[in-house]
Amino acid sequence: MQVAATAETTRCIKSAVDILTRGIDRAGGPVNLACSFSLEDTVIIDLAQSHGLPVGIFAIDTGRLPEETYQMAELVRERYGVEIDWYFPQATAVQRLERENGLFSFRNNLESRKQCCAIRKVEPLQRALRGLAGWVTGMRREQSVTRSELVSIEPDREHPGLLKIHPLYGWSEEELWAYANEFRIPVHPLHRKNYPSIGCAPCTRAVEPGEDIRAGRWWWENSEHKECGLHRS
Ligand code: ADX
Ligand code: SF4
Repeated sequence: MQVAATAETTRCIKSAVDILTRGIDRAGGPVNLACSFSLEDTVIIDLAQSHGLPVGIFAIDTGRLPEETYQMAELVRERYGVEIDWYFPQATAVQRLERENGLFSFRNNLESRKQCCAIRKVEPLQRALRGLAGWVTGMRREQSVTRSELVSIEPDREHPGLLKIHPLYGWSEEELWAYANEFRIPVHPLHRKNYPSIGCAPCTRAVEPGEDIRAGRWWWENSEHKECGLHRS
């Protein structure tokens, strides 16, 4: 069924599609979406599909994702008929981490938390990016102080030669939900339980009314530290 969008959503769609199109052109090779199955990433999949844009999808299974994320991944796979390229951490690195430091070492201090993210997220990302010319993320300026300067398309300084594309960089939370409601896209079940941002289960919790979007991520840390290494702040 064709769904009519409001003028505001139409403007947002035009901007995101334009960024995606320019990013893909500029990259000049394969471009994949890094997908966490958050609302942002699902909106990008919906936009890419409905506009015929060639964007593949990869996801990193850290081994600690919430059950709802796996359910959401299956929903997305069925609804859009897409293939999801899953990447896992190196088994030997996880074994060593858990044997030496236990299962919750990320709570000890910032260094231990970053060590866990490096093994479970950042290393698999390096493999996921191999052979790509660019990657798409669902990051938005509004999400945190570490993202307030985000631009729509940027050379990836961490991975020279790759382009990083952020089609929703200027979207607000309200604009995201307007799109989701107007186009009736699948929504990660935790978003409806006060989780505006979703990562690994032990490092994510619901937020209280009035708290900021990423308050539930690594809630025991200061907001300027809240990046896991997937994205340079
Ligand atoms: S994080 O760096 O703090 O974990 P966040 O959850 O805000 O990132 O998500 C920002 C973007 O990073 C997502 O829109 C998605 O593009 C990418 N991303 C985050 N987690 C994953 C994951 N597990 N697999 C693939 N991409 C991810
Ligand atoms: Fe480890 Fe938590 Fe980082 Fe997931 S978010 S990789 S569990 S520290």
